[in-house]
Formats: sequence, C-alpha cells, structure tokens
Amino acid sequence: MSINKKKTFSLESVVRPNILALKPYRCARDDYSSGILLDANENSFGMILPKNEIQLTFHSKEDKEKDDSGIEKLHRYPDPNQVNIKERLMKFRGLPSIDYFFLGVGSDECIDLIIRIFCVPGKDKLLITPPTYGMYSVCANINDVGIVKVNLDVEDGKFQLKTDEILKAVRENEDIKMIFLCSPGNPTGTVLSHESIRPILEDENYNGIVVIDEAYIDFVEEKNQNGSLVKWVTQYPNLVIMQTLSKSFGLAGIRLGISIADPRIIQLMNNTKAPYNISALTSHVACTALSTQNISNMKLIKQQIRDEHMKLISSILTIPGIGKILGGNDANFILVQILDRNNQNVNNDRAYHIYQEMAEKHDIVVRYRGNEIGCEGCLRITVGTPKENELLLKTLNELLGVIL
Ligand SMILES: Cc1ncc(COP(=O)(O)O)c(C=O)c1O
Repeated sequence: MSINKKKTFSLESVVRPNILALKPYRCARDDYSSGILLDANENSFGMILPKNEIQLTFHSKEDKEKDDSGIEKLHRYPDPNQVNIKERLMKFRGLPSIDYFFLGVGSDECIDLIIRIFCVPGKDKLLITPPTYGMYSVCANINDVGIVKVNLDVEDGKFQLKTDEILKAVRENEDIKMIFLCSPGNPTGTVLSHESIRPILEDENYNGIVVIDEAYIDFVEEKNQNGSLVKWVTQYPNLVIMQTLSKSFGLAGIRLGISIADPRIIQLMNNTKAPYNISALTSHVACTALSTQNISNMKLIKQQIRDEHMKLISSILTIPGIGKILGGNDANFILVQILDRNNQNVNNDRAYHIYQEMAEKHDIVVRYRGNEIGCEGCLRITVGTPKENELLLKTLNELLGVIL
C-alpha cells in the first residue's frame, strides 16, 4: 500500500511561533561529551554515597522501613508526594514541615514549572540579572514570557545585584511577575549579599515572586554570612528557593531538584506537576544520599573540593597568559580570564581558541563564557580531581605558550 503524504500540512504553520523561534539551551554536553569533563560544574569527586549503597536491595532495616515508595516494587507507580525524601530534607535544611518542599526532575523542571504557574504567556515578564544561568531565559521563551534584564554590577568581577535598578525596573514594568536570582551565581561563582536581596522581598511596589537559585549553596564556606536563605521562606510568602542534588551531592544523573517555599506555593507546584514525576529509582538514591551519614560524607567531600579549588587558583595564576579570577569563588568552579599574547588585555578569540584546542586535541572540556556580560575572555572551569587539575594546568601552560 502506498502512503499518500499530506501535502497541505505545514509544520511551520501549526507550531507555536515562540517555539519555532526558540534558541534551545545549549548544555555543556552538546559540544563535547568525553574526556576530562570540567564543563558542567558536576561533582568531579563523584557521588557522595558509597557505590555499594545503591543496589536494588536495602542495606539497613531503617532504610527498608523508610522507603515505602519501594525499590522492591518497581511494578508500582512511585509515591507521588515523596514524603521520605522531604522528611530528610526538612531535617537537613532546618524547616518546620515537609509542606515547604517540592521535588522536580532537576531544578530545570522546577524552573519551567514555576514560570508556567505564575506567568501568563504573551503578557507577563520575568526579570533576570545577567550574567546568569541560561535556563531562565530558555524557559521564559518556551512559555512565551518576556524577559527584562538588569545586569549585575560586573565592575572588577563583583557580580552583585544592582538593587535600586531592579526596583526601578519593576516599578516601570507592571508585567514583571517573577525575579530570578542565582546565589552563588553561574557563571559568576559569587554569593549575593543578603542585604541586597532583602529590599526586593520587602518592596511594596513589587508583589510578584522572587526565585533564588541555590544550586551551589553547599559549596559556600560556613563562615560566609551570605549563605543559604532557605529559612527566609517562613518569613516571605513570595520567596522560592531552588536547590539540587546535582552538584554538592554528586548526583546529576538521578535528576532531583528541590523547590522550597511557602506551603501555598508548594501546593500550586504539586497541583501542576506530572503525577509521578520522580521515579522510584531516583527516589531510592536520593533518600539514601540524604541519610545523616551521607550528608556528613557530602560535607567532607565539599571540603576536599574547596581545598583543591584554592590550590587550583594559586597555581593557575602563575601561568603566563592567565588574567584575573573573577567573582567570589563560592561554588565549585572558577571563572578565569585569558589574556592576549602580550599579557596585557583580556582576549575573547584567544579564550575561545584555547577552549577548542583543549577539547579537541587534549580531551579536556571546559566552558567558554566570553560572550557573557562582564566575562570577556573568560573560561569557566569546574574544579576537578587533583589529577585532572594537574593535567589541566599543564595543558593550559603549554597552549598559552603557543596559541596566538
Ligand atoms: C545555577 C544552576 N541552576 C540549576 C542548574 C540545573 O540543576 P539540575 O541539574 O538540578 O537541573 C544548574 C546546572 O548547571 C545551574 O548551574
């Protein structure tokens, strides 16, 4: 039987115009996917829980009793509410109830969901503060939501909020329904000062949602006064904090993102999600990772990463052709400038060239960030293992000696 192709059908005329025009998020792995991967800010030291703890059996009686979503019951749908994970998170993050927690398929699902809940397509807008994580704009575009940009103060790699300008923008634009902040920032690696955020939450003219993406929060030093704002959700009914197991817990592969907010916002998120968005396998690994013992492991590994981070900074700065390290180094990566051949000015072409050569000839993948505001000539490099960092430094040294 011959198939008659439908000649009157035109994909372009049925697809939503904003989807047709979409520039998809280009994730780190779209460009290079093998070698020494220092491009996606994963946990180079590996997952924080011992490998033998995640088999399809239970290790302790406590975990078996806890996990009623049931790794032994994979023919059943998982728990739609993921109570066990939320109980562990509640204890870990010091909040009074599991009703403050929503779980998504990575923070990326949470970002999309929260925009869909609060922004009317074709009307409302969200405010971002570049340089920042690219998914906020991509999700806005997918949902046909406009974007207002108020750049961070990028002078000398400060990367702090211009609070007055943000407040002015929301005064002048009533359609702004959401403000997306990122602390520590990506690609800035810098925590935002709490005192720059508070006036936004308390401004009487702005009654939309404030999202603070804390994907890298566990890497912030304990003595830093601008650490997690998670407890503020009990005070501010329009604040949403986003966290993830992808970074400090080394579990990017299981896709578990967390939103923390006033229970009324969480209820809306639960009402909107797909019923069984978190798989039983993800749930099992996440629950195990959040045991008291494994949270202690996470803290130990975080300290090792911190030590490597500091060593990497001091070594990289001795290489001719390397400029400054920008930002506050509060996450698990560095943002480093590449200079021209005369060691004078930052140079985007040279940075891009180094990035390509490293990936294609030396199997070391970092991220070029030279096109972002305030990041001219910059590469973003995830802190690797000691061996990986050694190889990175050696290669950078060699390439900067020869690349024009
Ligand atoms: C700031 C920021 N938020 C969110 C994410 C994505 O997190 P997840 O893996 O939970 O989707 C990333 C990943 O790189 C990130 O840098």
